[in-house]
Amino acid sequence: MVSLGQHDGDAAVERGLEIEEVPSVLGSVTDIDEQVVERARRGCYPRSSLKELDEGLVKEAFTRSGPPGDPFCLAPTYRQPVRFQVQDLREDLPEGTFQLILCRNLAFTYYDRDLQCEVLERLFGKLRVGALLVVGSNEELPAGAPGLDPLGPGRCIWKNARPAEPMGDAR
Ligand SMILES: C[S@@+](CC[C@H](N)C(=O)[O-])C[C@H]1O[C@@H](n2cnc3c(N)ncnc32)[C@H](O)[C@@H]1O
Repeated sequence: MVSLGQHDGDAAVERGLEIEEVPSVLGSVTDIDEQVVERARRGCYPRSSLKELDEGLVKEAFTRSGPPGDPFCLAPTYRQPVRFQVQDLREDLPEGTFQLILCRNLAFTYYDRDLQCEVLERLFGKLRVGALLVVGSNEELPAGAPGLDPLGPGRCIWKNARPAEPMGDAR
């Protein structure tokens, strides 16, 4: 999984933990802002940021850093497999391909159409077959998003519907 322009990482953490319970679920988290990336690396959140997360998962994956009122911090087991990177989405994307890319409330809100198309094409290249791209609930993908099918009525989860590459001739 990769979360681009991830802000404090809370949404990414919630989604990552919900999707799989294995520590390696979060592959990469990026933001252009160094301080944002540093906060995400620390992985400490107010209880209110975790309200959509199952109570059992909060207990399993977070420890409170001090007395009541102090933030909840993500256990090292969950933080260690994650690569936190300062990156400009317009220039760089994390290495590899992904089962899930979160790119919410950034490119498809703030960029002009041409840049949106360019970013989308590059994101598409990072999606494995059948993988999901999640954008903000008020965002629209440009140019009909060829190769991507919407999942559900909200049009914020898109599945890579490109057919798998044919296997090479084994002879
Ligand atoms: C509006 S917030 C969205 C946060 C999160 N994705 C969400 O939906 O809650 C935009 C985030 O994108 C980051 N950002 C802005 N321009 C960026 C760029 N070119 N590349 C990567 N991150 C960027 C900002 O620092 C900020 O953390």
